[in-house]
Amino acid sequence: MDNIRNFCIIAHIDHGKSTLADRFLELTGTVEKRQMHEQFLDQMELEQERGITIKLQPVRMNYTLHTTHYTLNLIDTPGHVDFSYEVSRSLAAVEGAILLVDAAKGVQAQTLANLHLAQKQGLVIIPAINKIDLPNARVAEVEEEIKKLLREDREILKISAKTGEGVEQVLEEVINKIPPPTTNYKLQTTNCFRALIFDSAFDAYKGVVAYVRVFSARGGSASGGDGLAVGDKIKFFATGVNAEAIEVGHFMPALKKYAKLSAGGIGYIATGLKNPGQVRVGDTVFKISEGEPAGPLPGYKEPKPVVFASFYPESSDNYNVLKDALGKLKLTDASLSYEPETSTGLGRGFRLGFLGMLHVEIVSERLKREFGLSLIISTPSVEYRVTQKNGDISAVRSAAALPDPSFLEKIEEPTVRLEILTPENYMGQLLKLMAGYRSEYETTEYITKELVILKYRVPLAEIITDFYDRLKSISSGYASMSYESSDYQTSDLVRLDILVAGDPVEPFSKIIPRALAYQEGRRTVEKLKKVIPQQWFAVSLQAAIGGKIIARETISALRKDVTGYLYGGDVTRKKKLLEKQKKGKKKMKELGKVNIPQKVFLEMLKR
Ligand code: GTP
Repeated sequence: MDNIRNFCIIAHIDHGKSTLADRFLELTGTVEKRQMHEQFLDQMELEQERGITIKLQPVRMNYTLHTTHYTLNLIDTPGHVDFSYEVSRSLAAVEGAILLVDAAKGVQAQTLANLHLAQKQGLVIIPAINKIDLPNARVAEVEEEIKKLLREDREILKISAKTGEGVEQVLEEVINKIPPPTTNYKLQTTNCFRALIFDSAFDAYKGVVAYVRVFSARGGSASGGDGLAVGDKIKFFATGVNAEAIEVGHFMPALKKYAKLSAGGIGYIATGLKNPGQVRVGDTVFKISEGEPAGPLPGYKEPKPVVFASFYPESSDNYNVLKDALGKLKLTDASLSYEPETSTGLGRGFRLGFLGMLHVEIVSERLKREFGLSLIISTPSVEYRVTQKNGDISAVRSAAALPDPSFLEKIEEPTVRLEILTPENYMGQLLKLMAGYRSEYETTEYITKELVILKYRVPLAEIITDFYDRLKSISSGYASMSYESSDYQTSDLVRLDILVAGDPVEPFSKIIPRALAYQEGRRTVEKLKKVIPQQWFAVSLQAAIGGKIIARETISALRKDVTGYLYGGDVTRKKKLLEKQKKGKKKMKELGKVNIPQKVFLEMLKR
């Protein structure tokens, strides 16, 4: 076990985690050169396509340093703030973290947020400046920023994950600075098999597969000892479910069968369980024959969703498909929460809870791609606290659930403490940007002379819309943000409804500040005009507050020449076609319904 090192790479988005992991995979011969492609560990199609990491990904590598063989367990983590729950779980499974900082962009908000998480966990931090090959690299300055952050005057590794320069030294540091695995991790009983589930997946043959960090086991050396083997009976502490290990192994990075899982290691247990809800990320798994632990291993807090949206299958026959899909998705995305919901207009569906807007987008895309679902998705909303005149207080997570204004005493909304990390020279523009949002300035702190943290309190609803994009564009990508929940505040809010061809379309309703209602109503109908396909009849788009129309647009009727492809003088055929078209038009007019394809709902989600 002295030769095992468990570590992860943490960084702000795009600072090069996946690229550094690629170099590690090559250097340790884990992936053969001819199989290698960029960002190898980003295995989801969506991750490759967008070039972002969404899910943590473990991999086991072998490395020899000065004739000693080591097993290195690396977990690559996402950098976007919406996926920081993935980071917190990775941190609980390791003893050290490489803190990667882009030499051109320098320290950014998630560098700070992730560093704090890692320090809280008591991990050994190995800082490294990446992308030193870039012509605009500011190595000396960035080194200064990192030293200030760590409050330490130590030499910092300078590397290029792209060219491979300095990457070997990083692995050496990992071996020399990060301690071998802790085993009797705050447990009353040692030497019994106890593992923390930090992730999971579903396999049609193997059932639920739990990704675990083994904290203790009899024996202990990677080669010997008891550990957990195929056929061992296991139990999950929180859910109380019994199962049998039908396969155990390690991440290479694909699942590879091994005879056993030993103390200190990271690996997987295939359970054969078919119900995804029986295995919970954060739970402790133990070997029944070695006795039940007095308590679970320290896990992590349940993630708290901040944004909610309703998902309804386009065809009500697909309700069960959606239900099954959500169960399976939850296994690979522990931060997703959902509960059934019924709407008069839309039938049966689910109210989903998310960690942010990018999370909403990714989950919608995954439901569509991985499960072939066509969905109707409501405008995402935060959770409001609504007090009625009769004294009733309720949590409202969708505009549709907001009581009639005549019953309302007050509406309170969640706020966050927002930290914007920015180079000093963008401060002016940023202060101006913030003035355009409902925000309350708190303080300014200097990390170095050039690097500043601006602190604000803002309603959460403000920053889940286009805030992030505007922050980026105003600062040429240099400013970054992170936030944490704060208190609720009373605000003057109203429900904005959207009517398509005279019918209110519930998923488009939203709760917004009264002062912004007109502008937002206008913006919404204008955007809808661009994304709803033309129909055979003119379609009115209206925005309304409490029955009063505040904005209006019209999509003109489609006039397609259905006879266009007929040549020659076949007049009867031409007449027939025109007749048919007329009839079709009449029918649709009678129905007065506009078919709004899923594409439109997805489009409306985008910022
Ligand atoms: P997320 O997982 O989405 O947070 O991103 P990441 O931190 O994994 O970053 P990734 O490895 O995807 O790299 C982001 C971009 O930086 C890619 O275009 C890489 O090719 C590039 N990149 C990474 N390392 C280097 C480097 O050392 N030098 C240069 N010039 N580019 C690099």
